[in-house]
Amino acid sequence: MVSQDRIYYKEPVFRPPSEAYSLLIQVTEGCSFKCDFCMSNLRKQFLIRRVEDIKKDLDIAKKLYGNGVRKIFFLDGNALTTPTEKLLEITNHANQLFPKLERCGVYAHARDILRKEDSQLRALSDAGLKIAYVGFESGYDKLLEAVHKHVTKEELIKASKKLMNADITLSATLINGLGGTNNPEVSNLHAIESADLINKICPDDDRTWYVAFLSLMVPPGTVLHEKKSRGQFEEMSPIEILKELHTFITNINFKNNPHARCIFRSNHASNYLPIKGVLDKDKLKILEIINYGLTHAEILKPEFYRGL
Ligand SMILES: C[S@@+](CC[C@H](N)C(=O)[O-])C[C@H]1O[C@@H](n2cnc3c(N)ncnc32)[C@H](O)[C@@H]1O
Repeated sequence: MVSQDRIYYKEPVFRPPSEAYSLLIQVTEGCSFKCDFCMSNLRKQFLIRRVEDIKKDLDIAKKLYGNGVRKIFFLDGNALTTPTEKLLEITNHANQLFPKLERCGVYAHARDILRKEDSQLRALSDAGLKIAYVGFESGYDKLLEAVHKHVTKEELIKASKKLMNADITLSATLINGLGGTNNPEVSNLHAIESADLINKICPDDDRTWYVAFLSLMVPPGTVLHEKKSRGQFEEMSPIEILKELHTFITNINFKNNPHARCIFRSNHASNYLPIKGVLDKDKLKILEIINYGLTHAEILKPEFYRGL
């Protein structure tokens, strides 16, 4: 149902931290994928809203914020799954209403990207869809399969290149500690294969792209939480998590591109130690920060301050 003066939201909504000041528009509800660690589709039946209703929400936003809107994020967990014509109609409507609009953004599962033709992604990019937040989680196929991510490393590479070819900025997230404790071999391969994935998608120009490492949380209601309750999964300690990140950074190597501008962040609410830098030029600086955290456990974020 759409009210005359309020923008419709189906709570809880899901958006990246960097879209905190964007106009949030509910294009889909929930997520069409169900990964073992994620809450995006726990309390909502996945659906794509009607274009007329979404356009009405944009009209309400115009009344509320005038020409002030510069960024829009299309909720929820993977709005890129919306058919291209619908997304184009919504984005074009937003462009007509907001003359200062700089970009629209979405969460996208890699398979949502692969399902679109290159020409469709280009049309979306030209219309203003300029950033996609893609959950990689890992570059290690066995771990991706174990957490039911429904994607392979090869698909993540293809999807990233497709996005970049369409001039849509890639913002990728990976999850530190995803394999759980008592699994040093999995942790090692998670770090090494994830670094290899990032090395392989590094473009050969100086465009800006983003890679963020979150640290695993185990929210109630998720499959991972059930496994934890049954004693089949145990979270890694902050020190194990930092060691895994150390291996990841050590294995980053953009040797073919000295101009690479990969903005690396591990400063999300879930992380124990805030880290940011540009890869691969800040590699040593980042390793120093991690080493400091490894030898000064007292500076790590206490468990009760962590969140998603
Ligand atoms: C709201 S989800 C949407 C992901 C999107 N559907 C996709 O497949 O790319 C955004 C990201 O939050 C992170 N995330 C979700 N649940 C998490 C958890 N329990 N712990 C840490 N990070 C999590 C993952 O990196 C995930 O890709």
